[in-house]
This record gives sequence, C-alpha cells and structure tokens, in this order.
Amino acid sequence: MSTPTAVALEDAKVAFHLGDGRVYTAVEKAHLSVAQGEFVAIVGPTGCGKSTLLNVAAGLLKPAAGSVRIFDQPLAGLNRDAGYLFQADALFPWKTALDNVAIGLEIVGTSRAEALARAQKWLTSVGLGAFANRYPHMLSGGQRKRVALAQVLIRDPKILLMDEPFGPLDAQTRQVMGNLLLDLWNADRKAVLFVTHDLEEAIALADRVVIMSAGPSSRIIGDWRVSLPRPRDIFEVRLDKEFHALHREIWSVLKDEVMKGYAQSTQAAEAV
Ligand SMILES: Nc1ncnc2c1ncn2[C@@H]1O[C@H](COP(=O)(O)OP(=O)(O)OP(=O)(O)O)[C@@H](O)[C@H]1O
Ligand SMILES: [Mg+2]
Repeated sequence: MSTPTAVALEDAKVAFHLGDGRVYTAVEKAHLSVAQGEFVAIVGPTGCGKSTLLNVAAGLLKPAAGSVRIFDQPLAGLNRDAGYLFQADALFPWKTALDNVAIGLEIVGTSRAEALARAQKWLTSVGLGAFANRYPHMLSGGQRKRVALAQVLIRDPKILLMDEPFGPLDAQTRQVMGNLLLDLWNADRKAVLFVTHDLEEAIALADRVVIMSAGPSSRIIGDWRVSLPRPRDIFEVRLDKEFHALHREIWSVLKDEVMKGYAQSTQAAEAV
C-alpha cells in the first residue's frame, strides 16, 4: 500500500495585488508534495516565498493558479488538518503557559477541566511541567517556543506547518529545540513542512530538503533526500561525512540564490 500524500501543491502560483494596480508574483509553478509521516524542510533566501507557501498549505492564501490537495482532497478554505507554528511569537501575553496551551482545545469545545489536564501533560512533554503558572513575559525565548509547540501539538494535527520556529533563538537553544522536536515527531510521525534559513538545521531534521529560488516568481529549484539514519541527534549528525557531502552539494545551488536574494532586497531598498 502506498503512503498517502498529506500535502500536494501542483503548479501553484501566488500573486499579490499591491494596491497601485501592480501585481507581484511571489511564487510560480510550485510543485511540492509531503507524504504522511514525512519531514520536509524548505530553505531559500529571504523574501523568496517560504511563508507564502506555508500559508497556501494552511489555506490562508488561495493560489492564483494551480491546485492544493490535502490527503487527496482539494483544499477549500482553512486546512483543518494542519497546526501552524508561526514565524512570530503568538502566545497570549495575558494567559499563563497552561492557559496558552489549553486554549487550543477549549476553542474546539473540550471542557476546561480536561483541557487543563491535557495542557499540563503537554507542558511536561516539552520540559515545562514546572512552569505552568508563568506568563509569557516570565519565560525565556526558548521556553516561549516550547509553549507554542505544545499549543499546536495538543490539537494533534495530522500536518505540522512550522515557519522558522526557532529563528530568534541562539545556536545552542536551536539545537536543543531541534532534538525536542525530533523526539516528539518520532513518537507519531506527522507530516511536517518546516521552513528555515538554516541549511544545517534543515539537513539535520528533515527527510527531504527543498530549495526555492530568489523571487520574484520564485520556483522550487531542488529537492534532496536526506538518508541519514534515525533517530538522529542534532549535535552528532553534523559530524557525519554524509551530512557534509550533502551540505556542500545543496549549498552550491543555494549560494547563488542567496546572493541574488540579497541583491534584490538592496535594489528594492534603493528604489524606495
Ligand atoms: N500581502 C502581501 N502583499 C504584497 N507582497 C507580499 C505580501 N506578502 C508577501 N509579499 C511578498 O512576497 C514575497 C514572499 O514573501 P514571504 O513572506 O513568503 O517570504 P519568505 O521567504 O518567508 O521570507 P523570510 O525568509 O524573510 O521570512 C516577498 O517579496 C514579500 O514582500
Ligand atoms: Mg517568512
């Protein structure tokens, strides 16, 4: 029996109306599939359309052309099978860590008592069992990311969309968070679409690494399988010879796009 496809974008094009009559084509002919249980990382220069692609998979943006299928069904409206960890911190500042996690269940009608009990378990799973009564401002950046992860996972989504979730964290905390994510993912292998700027992080975490070209009209220009054995340890895997070979191969393609991406962002700044 073949593995079902959790997310399938076919020739997806995303265009934004700029309000002055012009249209900016961010992404063109994006072809991307994520199988059930597969961990796919998307890497590309700033502004190329990574968040845009996640928004399409989440059903927040409708492509101007092409199709989006979720578990083989055309996506209409919001993708209810997906949990989304946004690029920016999205915790409610007036709620405790426990309430921030419980809200994910409360909004779908779970009783408060049950939501709180399950939220406490999830906080324990992300290593914050003793921090339930802290408000977000009383937590470190890494701890806030753990709460955000628990807030999404408590709803048990079949698909996890993650937009540079560890972006603002320091290098060591990112690695600790990466290992935590891999442990949690190993337990029930959801389909994951993980956006990052960091090629090393992408290779260390994912089954496949997908590269996007610099925009406008960004395309997917490479798709590599990462066959490093699992379970992986993010610290250890970076020492592997195969890791280095793959990194060199992907970077040779990504490097040019990163340079183009920076050149374009400077030109845009000069034109303003
Ligand atoms: N609502 C919008 N209206 C107009 N242009 C937009 C809109 N949203 C995004 N864009 C443009 O589309 C392109 C892709 O944006 P997106 O946020 O997907 O990039 P990204 O790859 O996630 O970048 P970063 O790595 O910096 O987060 C950018 O050039 C951006 O300016
Ligand atoms: Mg982004």
